[in-house]
Amino acid sequence: MVKICCIGAGYVGGPTMAMIAYKCPDIQVVVVDISVPRITAWNSDRLPIFEPGLDEVVKSCRNTNLFFSSDVEAHIADSDIIFVSVNTPTKTRGLGAGKAADLTYWESAARMIADVAKSDKIVVEKSTVPVKTAEAIEKILNHNSRDGVNFQILSNPEFLAEGTAINDLTNPDRVLIGGRQTPEGQKAVAVLKGVYAKWVPEDRIITTNLWSAELSKLAANAILAQRISSINAMSALCEATGANVAEVAYAVGKDTRIGPKFLNASVGFGGSCFQKDILNLVYICECNGLTEVANYWRQVVQINDYQKLRFVNRVVSSMFNTVSGKKILVLGFAFKKDTGDTRETPAIDVCLGLLGDKAKLSIYDPQVSEDQIRRDLAMNKFDWDHPQHLVPSSPTANSKEMVTVTFDAYEAAKGAHGICIMTEWDEFKSLDYQRIYDGMEKPAFVFDGRNVVNVEELRKIGFVVYSIGKPLDAWMKDLPAAPLS
Ligand code: NAD
Ligand code: UDX
Repeated sequence: MVKICCIGAGYVGGPTMAMIAYKCPDIQVVVVDISVPRITAWNSDRLPIFEPGLDEVVKSCRNTNLFFSSDVEAHIADSDIIFVSVNTPTKTRGLGAGKAADLTYWESAARMIADVAKSDKIVVEKSTVPVKTAEAIEKILNHNSRDGVNFQILSNPEFLAEGTAINDLTNPDRVLIGGRQTPEGQKAVAVLKGVYAKWVPEDRIITTNLWSAELSKLAANAILAQRISSINAMSALCEATGANVAEVAYAVGKDTRIGPKFLNASVGFGGSCFQKDILNLVYICECNGLTEVANYWRQVVQINDYQKLRFVNRVVSSMFNTVSGKKILVLGFAFKKDTGDTRETPAIDVCLGLLGDKAKLSIYDPQVSEDQIRRDLAMNKFDWDHPQHLVPSSPTANSKEMVTVTFDAYEAAKGAHGICIMTEWDEFKSLDYQRIYDGMEKPAFVFDGRNVVNVEELRKIGFVVYSIGKPLDAWMKDLPAAPLS
């Protein structure tokens, strides 16, 4: 029986390995992590991440051929293929801080593999890493291993998106495997290809050299994020001219060369990947002396920051240029629907912007806990993925007087001056907005950062409505554009 070990039981390691175990009953899969609470949760009835369809897959093979363990060393020693799916966050300190990927976790995983391996291993980069990382990993492994133990490094980046992970893993657009162009490298590629071929059609399994595979992952995320920043840039122009961004996106996306996906204007993209991977790409370009290329990609992140700031300014300028002391209901905190993940969610920047103007926030998200929201609002930029840096930096944002977390949107709306929609949860489409309106201060505002509400219906009720990139409410047309600072 082939044995697989995956280091890192997170959003990628957990679902990906569960899918391999589910589709390959003849393979034993063990997912290991240094976080004992995370492993305990994977072994419990309440998994550590919310992902539609994940419970069923995990429950069907857990303790049969899928195991979760914190005994990292033993399972590494025992396996033929080792996936490394640890976090690769943005560096917060030192050389390249604020851009470069922090490979501390990756390096310590590689050193652990070298330390405990007594037989040959295929080591698979599952984490998203800078191009050329495999070369560094090879050096760490080869300089620290026992005599006679050989390693083959493969790059097998993961393309799943949160909220749709199980579907993405069941039916991937492609699986990408990069390896050394040597006979041993190609043999390792064939072994990993054999695992995926159990359920993925062969023509969707792409094999390339190592550097192409590593770079393709950064390129895919940069180009996806670029589409969102492109449509978000258009949304600002739509608001200034009376065009409707939904109509523009539809018309543009009908061009088969462009396609309809990833053209939803929003308050900005979030999630643990896009910003981190683009900044990493920017840093790699700078290190290669490609200043213009670095500036080109940096602009995708800058438009994203601009979009969040523009949203906050729209809220403040519409509400008589101040939200001080006003209650604002924030609907949604996760970075997208169908996940409880809040990493880099635009809700953080928007909430901090409103708190900066002394608003009182009441926040509701069906999948995000109060603890998580308070931690997110109190943390420094980029610190969320560095457990050793998790020191709250903003007591104001954590104050119970300024921020309350609620589980009843109707109760929370009572006495509110405005509502900001930050996540496109389906339930926000069918709220009883008349009931909400009745309990609010007047004029009552809705600022829809996800284009989920029916603008005309809400205006009929009496709300002043702002929806990204849509023709402006008469209320806002005459307001001077708020300065961006
Ligand atoms: P995560 O933070 O959810 O999980 C990483 C896990 O690795 C954590 O549980 C951590 O405790 C563990 N870990 C760190 N160092 C370890 C070590 N030395 N030994 C054992 N365990 C260790 O991260 P994630 O979202 O799963 O992302 C993992 C990688 O996959 C990142 O490089 C990310 O860019 C990439 N990726 C993420 C997504 C996504 O949607 N989240 C999609 C594609 C790729
Ligand atoms: C992304 C990539 O899609 C995935 O392939 C990669 O493996 C990991 O990073 P993820 O971050 O999980 O996945 O979610 P995604 O669906 O890409 O959404 C990212 C952000 O963009 C979310 O905040 C989402 O709301 C926003 N978005 C997405 C838009 O604002 N408009 C869109 O049209 C699409």
